[in-house]
Amino acid sequence: MKAASSKAHANIALAKYWGKCDEQLNLPVVPSLSLTLDGLWTETTVCFDSILPADTIELNGQIPSDREAARIIQLLDRVRSRSGVAARAQVTSTNNFPTASGLASSASGFAALAAAAARAADLDLNLEDLSRLARRSSASAARSIFGGFVELAAGSVGDDSLCARPLPTTTWDVVMLVVIIDDGRKTISSTEGMMRSATTSPYYDEWVRKAPTWFEQVRDGVLAHNLEQVGHAMELSTFAMHACALCADPAVLYWKPTTLRVFEHIRSQRERADWKAWCTMDAGPHVKVLCSSACAPTVLESLSAMPGVKSIIATHAGPPVRVVP
Ligand code: PMV
Repeated sequence: MKAASSKAHANIALAKYWGKCDEQLNLPVVPSLSLTLDGLWTETTVCFDSILPADTIELNGQIPSDREAARIIQLLDRVRSRSGVAARAQVTSTNNFPTASGLASSASGFAALAAAAARAADLDLNLEDLSRLARRSSASAARSIFGGFVELAAGSVGDDSLCARPLPTTTWDVVMLVVIIDDGRKTISSTEGMMRSATTSPYYDEWVRKAPTWFEQVRDGVLAHNLEQVGHAMELSTFAMHACALCADPAVLYWKPTTLRVFEHIRSQRERADWKAWCTMDAGPHVKVLCSSACAPTVLESLSAMPGVKSIIATHAGPPVRVVP
């Protein structure tokens, strides 16, 4: 019997990944850049045990769907084939935030699973190797292996070596307010949303052509600690991704009325009250507000009073994945 536990933090993309250039190897078609968050995490224990007849999985105390289980077993199989461990595994995983609702649970989930499974199987993998392993299951998980600001380049077809890399930036005290709009589960997975966008949206090619420009603007802004530049490019990347998805057939629409209300509020307060705050949204209804630490308490108080906002998690740059006792 071999067991290990790990903790990985979720990340939110400031420059979005949307679309794959190689489905088999799960390689992104555009570069992305994210911030790993201290306040949102997954803790996972993997125990390979030769008496188990099959892999058994528990996510937040519940049995996962067949689709979720299959993705987890695929990662376990990769670890088994690299390590020579033949035993089936017991996997238990908990998130401290709502799961599968566009809140980056697959990012922290697969990053934690990769680290715990590799350690339990006695594989000696560095963070780059773990990032590659996590990437095969979820490209955003490749970024959650590292702390702080992290980039993931676009892939090239057939090249399995792609991993995320942390940005060489000194500490930058920005705040991400995660505004929870609705904690129900999302109806369209990000993989399904991307596929549908790629095959049916008339704006997909334009998204792929333009996304690297916003990525560069976000990257330069992070390196220069220029929040205005990062925020502006982040909103452009976000809206282009959602516009592309919205024009898929059938439409991929993740927003709720409150999503738009929060965005409108942030935008008008930026103009009226000089708030240093910008919005981003992923494959779910929640809004993540990137703001200066000086501005964060005012934004938090104001958004908390808004009808339809369930809760807000105020969070900062978080650490890399690690094995825990
Ligand atoms: O890694 P996935 O398959 O969960 O896709 C993540 C997609 C977005 O969250 C919408 C964007 C991103 O870059 O994280």
